[in-house]
Amino acid sequence: MANWTPHSWRDESFDLRQQPTDWPDPDALDAALKELRGMPPLIFAGEARALKNQLARAASGEAFVLQAGDCAETFENLTADRVRDLLKTVLQVAVVLTYSAGVPVVKIGRVAGQYAKPRSSPVETTGDGAEVPTYRGDMINRVHLSEEARTPDPENIVLAYHQAASTLNLLRSFTKGGFADLAAVHAWNMAFVASSNEGRRYEAFAGRIDAALRFMKTCQIDSPAMHETDLFTSHEALFLPYEEALTRQDSTANDAWYDCSAHMLWIGTRTNALTSAHVEFLSGVGNPIGLKVGPDMTSQDLRALCDRLDPDREPGRLTLVSRMGSDLIDDRLPPLIEAVAEESHPVVWMCDPMHGNTVTSQSGLKTRHFDVVLAELAQYFEVHRRCGTWPGGIHLELTGDNVTECIGGSDQVRDDDLHLHYETACDPRLNARQSLDLAFRAAELLEALQTAGTPQQGPVFGRAAPPARELPQLRVVHPNPRS
Ligand code: PEP
Ligand code: CO
Repeated sequence: MANWTPHSWRDESFDLRQQPTDWPDPDALDAALKELRGMPPLIFAGEARALKNQLARAASGEAFVLQAGDCAETFENLTADRVRDLLKTVLQVAVVLTYSAGVPVVKIGRVAGQYAKPRSSPVETTGDGAEVPTYRGDMINRVHLSEEARTPDPENIVLAYHQAASTLNLLRSFTKGGFADLAAVHAWNMAFVASSNEGRRYEAFAGRIDAALRFMKTCQIDSPAMHETDLFTSHEALFLPYEEALTRQDSTANDAWYDCSAHMLWIGTRTNALTSAHVEFLSGVGNPIGLKVGPDMTSQDLRALCDRLDPDREPGRLTLVSRMGSDLIDDRLPPLIEAVAEESHPVVWMCDPMHGNTVTSQSGLKTRHFDVVLAELAQYFEVHRRCGTWPGGIHLELTGDNVTECIGGSDQVRDDDLHLHYETACDPRLNARQSLDLAFRAAELLEALQTAGTPQQGPVFGRAAPPARELPQLRVVHPNPRS
């Protein structure tokens, strides 16, 4: 950290993975990055700090986080309707979670910059047996299966910046301009419940939200928070030259460095080794950061990574995104939670129930089963209940569109249906209705968790008995060594 600079990740001592190396014209790449360095930042560092403060509350059990959006955004898919529908879905899910968790929900989109993808293989085979470079996200190349589309083009890097700016602009208008009105979002949820095959199961819950809102209206309780909201942006900080070019010093905070491409950046499982260039890069920026934690992570490595990414034990700085797979989470997650707690890192724990549960369907398409996703989420909550820790948040790949990419949900998308609207450029996403199904099921889990409480403390989340709700008294380890 002492020798950190925005380009120290380039040092050969670091393990640099998942970067395209086949740029046909290196001068054009340099020119694109130079152009980017001259562009205004996409976010203001103060906003990243505001998010960090909200995440600090999630670390201590006083907030819950919803991080959600596309696996891979594409340039082609940027339309006002799609951005609106994604936001609509995120807001709908957030309202359900807010009511059931009994704490504010911090909303973070996988949006306005999720344009670079890690891949398992550097090549892909076309229908006629030819090998072409793998798709690495629209920031690098295009998804179409041809040599030409797959050749990295530096113009994409600049275009990614402009697309992100335009998406962010629209999100800011929607969230502040009346679209996020709580009463409207709730009305959308009521319409969903009325049309859902699981309607009866969700009705009681939605009815309670309805009653709460009517009561507030009767009492003339009103605040700006009921009419507008914040949606923070995030993406995997994968293509490091882009991130470096948008890393700026904040004159209002002692010239600290911030990656101004998004409010929050995360490190994926393919680049999360201790020696990784990605870990080096994100260790030096002031943003809140995420670290994906997969089933192969050892307690020892996680301790070392937490030390490296959060040496000051700063609440809200580090979010650990567990993505174990439904068959492994019960075995792998508890020792990791213990290890982090022993070291007193005030992290947010979050569950990504998507990436450990990707399978190939009978029809040959990459998919995920709704029930398996839900099963990982249920186990995640249960593991945290046993450990006495706050289950912090959920991380989902979803879209507001009516796609058929994941199997199941109350509309029962079947294997045979997948081809109907299979539109993702990378991983299968929950569609809008499956996302709401998941929200209501997660709400049931959160409420059950609150009634059950932790093994040590009994029912601590408290709707079981008055007062209506106490803050969860969890075994959250929260000391800041400096204070
Ligand atoms: C992702 O979040 O899109 C992703 C690739 O996840 P992971 O690094 O956990 O596999
Ligand atoms: Co993905």
